[in-house]
Amino acid sequence: MNILILGGGGREHALAWAAMQNPKCDKLIVAPGNAGIAAIATCASLDILDGAAVANFCESEAIDLAIVGPEAPLAAGIADRLRDAGVAGFGPSAAAARLEASKAFTKEICDACGAPTAAWARFTDVRAARAHLETTGAPVVVKADGLAAGKGVVVAETLDEARAAVDEMFAGAFGQAGAEVVIEEFMTGEEASFFVLVDGEEVLPVGTAQDHKRIGEADTGPNTGGMGAYSPAPVMTPEVEARALEEIVKPVVAEMARRGTPYSGVLYAGLMIAEGRPRLVEFNVRFGDPEAQVLMLRLGAQALDLMQATAEGRLGAARVNWAGDHAMTVVMAAKGYPGDYAKGEPIGGLDALPEDSFHQCFHAGTARADGRIVSAGGRVLTLTARGATLAEAAERAYAMVRAVDWPGGVWRSDIGWRALGGGRAG
Ligand code: AMP
Ligand code: GLY
Repeated sequence: MNILILGGGGREHALAWAAMQNPKCDKLIVAPGNAGIAAIATCASLDILDGAAVANFCESEAIDLAIVGPEAPLAAGIADRLRDAGVAGFGPSAAAARLEASKAFTKEICDACGAPTAAWARFTDVRAARAHLETTGAPVVVKADGLAAGKGVVVAETLDEARAAVDEMFAGAFGQAGAEVVIEEFMTGEEASFFVLVDGEEVLPVGTAQDHKRIGEADTGPNTGGMGAYSPAPVMTPEVEARALEEIVKPVVAEMARRGTPYSGVLYAGLMIAEGRPRLVEFNVRFGDPEAQVLMLRLGAQALDLMQATAEGRLGAARVNWAGDHAMTVVMAAKGYPGDYAKGEPIGGLDALPEDSFHQCFHAGTARADGRIVSAGGRVLTLTARGATLAEAAERAYAMVRAVDWPGGVWRSDIGWRALGGGRAG
């Protein structure tokens, strides 16, 4: 089978690694990829937002399965163009990708099918939004409706903060994404991520995870794309998982099908769990980054079969073979991230890292310059390990972090602290 993966971060490196573990994979191309991916697959330069270019590329390379990593090409309709070209694509149509691309749309779907989520209201007018805040009080959550690269959410502790967020969004801080604003009830509880493959009708859970979005230890400081993750999430007990599947995922999937826009791909449900009851925070229409790293290391070669079954509408007969293991990934970022940071810093020690089904160094933002690996992004490496316990996975991941020779690299030494009982892992 010839496979194309779109994207070039740690998530795509993990997807590429899993695909390569599967003997069915004859040829693997990743566009654009990165220096780590280039060690295991062919990297191609291709505008992944250009559906026609991607469809032509699939034809010329005889691609059998195209796996879409990030949300932007999905929201732009890449899966639709692949389907028009007769290529099996892993990822939802643009109409179904609205579950990530529009927060108000997701809320409407939840209301239509009774899926539990925070109380909400939508506004296209600053005055009405401000007036609404007087009725909610604080804390309250203010969200730009559209895709804002993970930055369009303000959890306001005070009404002043909420008013400022509303003003900024309507003043164009997030461009078109903020033309509509959603104001939500602030939910309390513990957050977890639930990943479910969906082929239009059938659903198949493929794992749970928790991530750390803040840059600083003890979950302080500005939000990032994610500084580390672990799987499974202890708060996702079998009972909570069953409730999330029955009360949120299945009704939403049925509602999307009923509307003639069936969902296909991975549905990533961000949940808030309080007293054993999951409520939806948000959907993403792709794997998380860095959550994919822990999920892929745990699933291994079967991930490819599962994604293929999803793309081909054959999930009904698919099963996951669970190993009862744990995985952790620790992100090494460039000093200064999520603000300004240097690029092009040489990174040593990578060749000596263990590389097997328990240890993988997935590259997030690297390039090759003068024969060396150099930093090329904010999040640069994701050191990922698996073990019989989370503590063992953490020990292995942090041993890899310490073996990387990059003075400009920063990382959190407390990934998994909640699940590890407050102890620092590295
Ligand atoms: P999102 O981009 O929707 O994932 O939001 C970013 C983060 O904001 C989430 O991971 C939550 O920690 C927080 N958040 C979003 N919506 C709510 C809510 N209604 N109540 C509490 N926290 C929220
Ligand atoms: N790590 C969070 C995300 O991928 O959205």
